[in-house]
Amino acid sequence: MGRLEDKVVFITGAARGQGRSHAVRMAEEGASIIAVDICDQIPTVFYPMATRDDLDETANLVEKAGGRIVTRVADVRDRNALQGAFDDGLAEFGHVDVVLPNAGIMPVINEGEQEQAWHDGIATLLTGVWQTIEVALPSMLERGQGGSIQITSSAAGLSSMALNTIPGQAAYVAAKHGVVGLMRLYASQLAPHSIRVNTVHPTGVNTPMVANEQYGKFAMEFPEIAGSPKYQNPMPVPLIDPVDVSNAMVYLASDEGRYVTGVTFPVDAGYLNR
Ligand SMILES: NC(=O)c1ccc[n+]([C@@H]2O[C@H](COP(=O)([O-])OP(=O)(O)OC[C@H]3O[C@@H](n4cnc5c(N)ncnc54)[C@H](O)[C@@H]3O)[C@@H](O)[C@H]2O)c1
Repeated sequence: MGRLEDKVVFITGAARGQGRSHAVRMAEEGASIIAVDICDQIPTVFYPMATRDDLDETANLVEKAGGRIVTRVADVRDRNALQGAFDDGLAEFGHVDVVLPNAGIMPVINEGEQEQAWHDGIATLLTGVWQTIEVALPSMLERGQGGSIQITSSAAGLSSMALNTIPGQAAYVAAKHGVVGLMRLYASQLAPHSIRVNTVHPTGVNTPMVANEQYGKFAMEFPEIAGSPKYQNPMPVPLIDPVDVSNAMVYLASDEGRYVTGVTFPVDAGYLNR
């Protein structure tokens, strides 16, 4: 018997990286998955984003793990498209228990695109999280069986973990802090309905968002910050693995975490306690 048997999980940004890892790990625990991803490039994002092939591979891996999955291409910035994707999953599985607003970008930009990078960052990382919760919530409330919403923030959601103040980085830090406010609001409002809401705060994770050549080059422009002990994890690990975050997500989604709500949950190798 898995720890998430019969639960249905709605995940954004599920084509690769942490979203894919959560989908597979949760399928191993018995969950069915509604997986959404933009599968397209946002121009202010400087590394390649996920593709339709990536989302299909998530589906393959979930099915290999014994899970059922519905995949849809949708942009979390587009509420109508997101609602349509969610509704398709709901039609297939009948209900949703767990919501993982995970889709994210690291907009670091070229000359001239800076203002757009701020708007893309906020639209995806803050408005996109809000819209992900809003499209799923009515069905959870109507069903009346509780549930769990687990927002992927970052160590940059509780500290100024950024290399500089250019608009893309500023938007990232602001939005990742912003979702903590959303979490606290929803956690207090939804507690009487037994819907728990928490944020998860990973340190650097080994995914294409940061493990790419362009980010390495960008970081090298700020060696005094990127190389300083203040920017490193106290535990001897430069980047954690996606499954380290997935294991925390499984705990929070399962009945083991049934009275854990309103919490900012670090998975950070000691970063926030530096
Ligand atoms: N990698 C890290 O170091 C790190 C650390 C802390 C937090 N995070 C956060 O973790 C989450 C997952 O990121 P990841 O590390 O797996 O990176 P990733 O780039 O591998 O995955 C992010 C996924 O989100 C999708 N996506 C982006 N914008 C979207 C949109 N508007 N609509 C729908 N899908 C969209 C991408 O296509 C991609 O598949 C993000 O919220 C990120 O900010 C990452």
